[in-house]
Amino acid sequence: MTALIEAVDVCKHYPVETGGFLRRTTTPLRAVDSVSLRVEAGETLGLVGESGCGKSTLGRLTIRLLSATSGTIRFAGQDIGALEGKALRAVRRSMQIVFQDPYGSLNPRMTVEDIVSEPLAIHGEGASAANRVADMLSLVGLPARARDRFPHEFSGGQRQRIGIARALILKPKFVVCDEPVSALDVSVQAQIVNLLQDLQGELGLTYLFIAHDLGVVKHISTRVAVMYLGKVVEVAAKDTLYAAPKHPYTRGLIASVPVTHPSQRARGRAERKRLDGDIPSALNPPSGCRFHTRCPLVQSICREREPPTTEPAPGHLVACHLAT
Ligand SMILES: Nc1ncnc2c1ncn2[C@@H]1O[C@H](COP(=O)(O)OP(=O)(O)O)[C@@H](O)[C@H]1O
Ligand SMILES: [Mg+2]
Repeated sequence: MTALIEAVDVCKHYPVETGGFLRRTTTPLRAVDSVSLRVEAGETLGLVGESGCGKSTLGRLTIRLLSATSGTIRFAGQDIGALEGKALRAVRRSMQIVFQDPYGSLNPRMTVEDIVSEPLAIHGEGASAANRVADMLSLVGLPARARDRFPHEFSGGQRQRIGIARALILKPKFVVCDEPVSALDVSVQAQIVNLLQDLQGELGLTYLFIAHDLGVVKHISTRVAVMYLGKVVEVAAKDTLYAAPKHPYTRGLIASVPVTHPSQRARGRAERKRLDGDIPSALNPPSGCRFHTRCPLVQSICREREPPTTEPAPGHLVACHLAT
């Protein structure tokens, strides 16, 4: 397999002001801390973890909407951190993002045509806009008459279709879908996930699909990566991850996916306890394994040493002292 995106030891530390009035200092918030990850050409890599664990930061790093503090990100073998000017613009058009909030991410004063065609204008291809906007609207299932309307005239699901049309008009290869359905009604979520999946097949796209729970990514992912407090703690093929997770955090996340079948509800409640406890601060992460303060299996080594990432089975990566 060939990696379209390859992150090696990537860190993103945000400088944050801490301390009181007299002792103000800048402390690095380790939003992404030494992450290595591959996204294979043509796959959907699901990226899950609780809010604040660094998913959006990692997603934006992979398309250089943010620059890494350290580490390397390659797109089709090219180190994107080293690119500038024309070469950077060229790879940027191959990497796009669909945002979570279809309300906040679309300019309310622009028509759908202007929103969808803006990337063409930015890349100096405005002349071909009219036809391509029409093609994109039909591709994402919006009527042709939508082009002269404004975002507020559409439902949440339709707005997300507008955001998808905008992201795809430059024919990218890699698309970060940053919680694209989290703000939508459950009844609409499946439609958007199905649309993204159809478009992937038609256009040969590769996705990094971010979600905060494992329920949403189950359908669409080829493999799933789990993040906790700036670290990737487990990566596996989808079926393996759901059926035989090795990290206690992944098990907790699986148990906290809402259970709808009555016969499973009692069990779901009992296991959901596993993810009790507050998420520690990324400004001052726990020593050793960052999950140790919430882990039901914690041992003394977990408080003292950071677990290395191991590969107990081919393609199954896990960072836990107790995983075998
Ligand atoms: N621009 C920023 N400045 C400082 N801290 C930030 C900034 N953006 C995100 N963070 C912090 O980085 C951590 C990871 O954030 P984020 O990547 O948005 O996580 P997620 O998408 O998983 O919710 C959080 O603690 C968040 O508060
Ligand atoms: Mg986010």
